[in-house]
Amino acid sequence: MDKFIINGGKKLYGKVEISGAKNAILPIMTATLLAKGKSILHNVPHLNDIKMMAHVLRVIGARVDYHDGVLEIDATHASYFEAPYELVSKMRASIYVLGPLLSRFGQSKVSFPGGCAIGTRPVDLHLMAMEKLGAAIDIEHGYIMANAGKLKGNDIHFPKVSVGATANALMAAVLANGETNMFGAASEPDISSLIDFLIIMGARIQGKGTKYIKVIGVKKLEPAEMIMMPDRIEAGTFLIAAAITKSDITISKCEPSHLETLMEKLRIAGANFEIHNNEIKIISPKIIKSVDVTTGPYPGYPTDLQAQFMALMSLADGESVITETIFPDRFMHVAELNRLDADIKVDKNVATVKGVKSLSGAQVMATDLRASATLVLAGLAAQGQTEVSRIYHIDRGYDKIEEKLRKLGADIIRAKE
Ligand code: UD1
Repeated sequence: MDKFIINGGKKLYGKVEISGAKNAILPIMTATLLAKGKSILHNVPHLNDIKMMAHVLRVIGARVDYHDGVLEIDATHASYFEAPYELVSKMRASIYVLGPLLSRFGQSKVSFPGGCAIGTRPVDLHLMAMEKLGAAIDIEHGYIMANAGKLKGNDIHFPKVSVGATANALMAAVLANGETNMFGAASEPDISSLIDFLIIMGARIQGKGTKYIKVIGVKKLEPAEMIMMPDRIEAGTFLIAAAITKSDITISKCEPSHLETLMEKLRIAGANFEIHNNEIKIISPKIIKSVDVTTGPYPGYPTDLQAQFMALMSLADGESVITETIFPDRFMHVAELNRLDADIKVDKNVATVKGVKSLSGAQVMATDLRASATLVLAGLAAQGQTEVSRIYHIDRGYDKIEEKLRKLGADIIRAKE
């Protein structure tokens, strides 16, 4: 296993390029199962989650090739409609095959995803959506068994915004007979990106980026080619890396409109921004002001940037309150930040962060993807040396984060445990 060794206290400078968005790419990869032929995705980063999804697709019978940021998926000979436990237990996003498999084969068998480090993550809304579209669902021996002849369009009311359930519902509805009207759908950029891809495939979808999405089922879809959008969570992580080290850097190849909520919070914390097309320059505050944050569905503050912002607030002048409404237990990073001398207390889904003058380097352990990035950010700002172990979590979702940080002037190396 690898670890990061970070010597904190260095200022960052220069420019960093943002990679393609993992959370948009994973559902798009499964959408390629909806057509026979070869789909081509550009701007795909080298990430373990993407490798894992490629494996899931190969098990289903697709041919998958990856070279130089280009992912080619040929689903012509896909013939197996199962996502086995061994894969789903390693990556929850495997649930994204449920809708496409049901659509293409009239049946699917997907291992029931268990809990994960960020808490209980039910799939009832995914199942409800499939049932509304005419599937019969049974849970047998830890597997979701879904069966439908031909799916039929219907009204689907989501009582809660779910990115995953919206994606699965979309991928099932595009080839269903008739119209599907989704109310309370997710409007995250990842969903808009999936809709763009499905439309290139030939799907008829209206309401991109809104809570009401209408899908008019078509008979057949064709393979598609698309450039993957930039990763707003990676971009946000680098903006916070700059703020926590009081540095001015430029992030390029990003989509500034996806980062407005974060930039608004960082402005209140004292940062300024210069935005030109797909670049954001952050001018960081000399003194970080405390800001309260509550996570919420897009365009609310993203849960995937909650932990990183908490690291920043641990060095703020004053007290801030961070409320997690998407995954109430997503606070595994708190104990580790406190090992670095942060002063954070958690009560249910609310963390109270008392800013301290400085953090001090220590050995800490990554517990999940975004928590790992948070510990790296804290390590960059801490005095002395920080060792972050179990960084395989970070390799799931950040492409060569240590190389990108080193280019910005950080003192960080990867070493064997
Ligand atoms: C969520 C985030 C997404 C983030 C991803 C990885 C939101 C709305 N979604 O997406 O931005 O990138 O985690 O960290 O911020 N839920 C149910 N039943 C279901 C499905 C979900 O009750 O069947 C609940 C979840 O427990 C959660 C909320 O709905 O409280 C949103 O979950 P969902 O958007 O589905 O999660 P992901 O798709 O994993």
